[in-house]
Amino acid sequence: MIEPKAQSPLRARTTIHFLTLLILGLGFQGSGAETVWLDSLDLSNLRQGWGRPQVNRAIRETPLTIAGKVFARGVGTHATSTLWVQLDGGTERFTANVGVDDAAAGPGTVIFRVLADGRRVFDSGVMKTGTPPKAVNLDLRGRKLLLLQVLDAGDGIAFDHANWADARFEVTGVKPKTVPVPTEEAVILTPRPGPAPRINGPKVYGCRPGNPFLYRIPTQGERPITFSAKGLPKSLNLDANTGIIAGQAPLRGEYEVTLRAKNRHGTATRTLRIIAGDTLALTPPMGWNHWYAHYDRITDTMMREAADIMISSGMADVGYQYVNVDDCWMMAPKHNDPLRVGRLRDAQGVLLPNKYFPDMKLLADYIHSKGLKAGIYISPGPLTCAGFAGSWQHEALDAKTFADWGYDFLKYDWCSYSRVADGREPGADQVPNWAQGERRLEVYTHPYKLMGDLLKQQPRDIVYNLCQYGMANVWEWGEAVGAHCWRTAGDLGFELDRIFEVALKNAEHRAWSRPGAWNDPDYIQIGWIGNARGGGLPQPCPLTPNEQYSYMSLWALMAAPIFYSGDMTKLDDFTLNVLCNPEVIEVNQDPLGQCGAVSILNDQTFVMVKDLEDGSKAAGLFNRGEFPAEAALPWPVAGLTGPAKVRDLWRQQDLGVSSGPYRATLPRHGVVLLRLTPVRAAK
Ligand code: GAL
Repeated sequence: MIEPKAQSPLRARTTIHFLTLLILGLGFQGSGAETVWLDSLDLSNLRQGWGRPQVNRAIRETPLTIAGKVFARGVGTHATSTLWVQLDGGTERFTANVGVDDAAAGPGTVIFRVLADGRRVFDSGVMKTGTPPKAVNLDLRGRKLLLLQVLDAGDGIAFDHANWADARFEVTGVKPKTVPVPTEEAVILTPRPGPAPRINGPKVYGCRPGNPFLYRIPTQGERPITFSAKGLPKSLNLDANTGIIAGQAPLRGEYEVTLRAKNRHGTATRTLRIIAGDTLALTPPMGWNHWYAHYDRITDTMMREAADIMISSGMADVGYQYVNVDDCWMMAPKHNDPLRVGRLRDAQGVLLPNKYFPDMKLLADYIHSKGLKAGIYISPGPLTCAGFAGSWQHEALDAKTFADWGYDFLKYDWCSYSRVADGREPGADQVPNWAQGERRLEVYTHPYKLMGDLLKQQPRDIVYNLCQYGMANVWEWGEAVGAHCWRTAGDLGFELDRIFEVALKNAEHRAWSRPGAWNDPDYIQIGWIGNARGGGLPQPCPLTPNEQYSYMSLWALMAAPIFYSGDMTKLDDFTLNVLCNPEVIEVNQDPLGQCGAVSILNDQTFVMVKDLEDGSKAAGLFNRGEFPAEAALPWPVAGLTGPAKVRDLWRQQDLGVSSGPYRATLPRHGVVLLRLTPVRAAK
């Protein structure tokens, strides 16, 4: 009989390991994987277009319900929404039921998407309110980074209440954790301006004959600079030391003025066409507005400081000009700060500023003393959006008051006007839903035409900015009521993570963009800004450096008014770099006034091309996707038929002559902004 061989120790261990693995394996088949619920993760990293992420309930704080099916657990969010989850290979599976929540008060349309390590692993297709929940069931073994996305399905985010119901990870290793949006290093792309003078600013400038005229020649370069001008109308004077042109706008006509700036490093010249006629804002207005930095904390002192910094930071040297107060400079019937509460008007009906604004005229004078312009704000309704005095039933007096005080720009914000529109009395209980266009156009245009006509009668050039969030296709009639620019949508402060979508929507109205008539997609909110949702104190903005370059590039290509609306006292080098590249600004200020056209639009990338007055083209290649993407611009898409000089505007670098296409790998949310100047083909 052969005795069984004794097992060697090594073999014995192997058997034990095998058994252990078998047991563990069986365990996993059964209940070995741990369930980690999405709703138990840190949702402060979830970015969404509206409201706050909700745990185990929908965005309106009601039970998660998709097409009548109620879910006990999950996350309620709102398009557009992104959540990055680090898996580090520890997750086996992700499952969920997704859909639009039933409690949305209107029809929402969204797309749920999941990307694992950059690859799309789930796409729900367009889901609407009432679409039954769709199951997500993903094998994620070995995956490192997951992205949960809710897109707006291309029609804006209204009612896009999106539920990740029953969402959970089956985990066998490292637990999943949410991480902030990936960001990149803030690289200053633009070389610093040299010491020799460079004259910037618009090439064409509109004014009304006989009105006060003020224009500070935007000029970079080491001071002292001596300015001179040839062809300046007699009614105007140029201060040789400051470069400020002041006086009275000349008689109707066109004046070609050659501006000259000289310092010890060199001389610059530039032609400025002054057109005295009916149209102001022949190029998009540029400046600063206090809203997104200071909300109802704004004071006269802060306004003056902003004017000082517009000069000292160099912003005025590239064309920023208006220093605009927004809401909350007047008195309010009630407010938590007693210094802002009081009688709204004096015995004559003249508006009374609140205690933080001792004298509105002196404030405008101060801004003018720097060669800059002053802007003011009010609503056609009884009260402004923040509950301060409005112009309702005082329009003529207010227009005159703003002119008397010396303001050069008026933002007229719809706010409470719905309550009095169409002859209603304030307090009428039923506020109609004007945005649905249920009333005739006249209801929308009436208050704006009233003020527009009044502004034209003032002996002062006042640029007129409509703010009514794009209702009744304002771009179609804004110019006819005397406006120079109009907001095309709601407050961008609530939609900062939708810069690309907002811009693409705004660019749809490009046919209405022309000198004196600008689509306004709202302010530039980079650097330090307050959170629009809570009106909080300024903090670093949530946009990544690439997003900031894209933002500014889009505004430049769309000929949008460029108003910086961050904290001027906290401007850093990177923010100034994004705001102050004169070659980028020149695209914005181009005299043709064209808004760029969008083409080659796909899920990730698109191109925007704008014709410029000198026959060259400005072109932006954008990546709105979450991962790097290739993009190409074939010359015919840019309207080019032959070779062109290619210049990278952010880097201010010539890239040589090419016959296209231009190809680039764009980082997440990044841009390449080019100027393409046709050259004659070599014979
Ligand atoms: C909003 C407007 C903002 C800001 C605010 C002031 O309606 O869109 O830009 O002006 O009111 O209360």
